[in-house]
Amino acid sequence: MASKVYGCIAKIADSIIANKEFLTELDREIGDADHGINMARGYTEALGQLPQDETDIGAVLKKTGMVLISKVGGASGPLYGTAYMKAAKAAAGKTELTVQDGKEILEAIIGGIKQRGKAERGEKTMLDAIIPAYEAYAAAADGGKDLAGCLDAMCAAAKEGVEYTKTIRATKGRASYLGDRSIGHQDPGATSSLLTMEAVRGFVEEG
Ligand SMILES: Nc1ncnc2c1ncn2[C@@H]1O[C@H](COP(=O)(O)OP(=O)(O)OP(=O)(O)O)[C@@H](O)[C@H]1O
Ligand SMILES: [Mg+2]
Repeated sequence: MASKVYGCIAKIADSIIANKEFLTELDREIGDADHGINMARGYTEALGQLPQDETDIGAVLKKTGMVLISKVGGASGPLYGTAYMKAAKAAAGKTELTVQDGKEILEAIIGGIKQRGKAERGEKTMLDAIIPAYEAYAAAADGGKDLAGCLDAMCAAAKEGVEYTKTIRATKGRASYLGDRSIGHQDPGATSSLLTMEAVRGFVEEG
């Protein structure tokens, strides 16, 4: 039987692959129309390469990161790859995750993406979905919510973050070449991050 962590990555992969055209269309508006293609290629490869019965969450996340780095390319490959590698470190040796583990994983992901991409919040990138998502998750966790409640809060904030990217100018990546013309468009990377978080929530909800 496939391990839980494999099942979760498979759920993320299914969502990214199903939204390949949508993500690519978003990137056509403010980038080079490859985000969905890049991401779907990476996750298709990950599905084929990941060990299905491995229960060590860190090991599976690490392998996912390595595959995404080697197969996605562009800006998002190294960024998502780094995010998975950092998450892997935070989850090393674990076969179950607590609410607190989730918080630490999100912290590690943000640290990795910031370090790799040299971006901050408000630059119209994936960080505009992930940072508010982390804050909402942490607030829910500190307020005593269970994992499902924390993931709900995380996804709601990520969705708002994606909406927020429509209102701001890109100052990182290819979209920054458009300057003010990037305003009004939703960031592709923030959108794929939202899809990722929603897939994790869906996976946990389904038990
Ligand atoms: N420095 C950065 N930090 C965080 N995220 C970034 C950064 N640069 C780009 N991104 C994210 O990557 C997404 C674009 O990913 P894509 O797969 O299309 O790579 P790309 O075409 O090489 O990107 P680009 O040339 O726009 O940087 C953007 O929507 C944005 O969310
Ligand atoms: Mg692109």
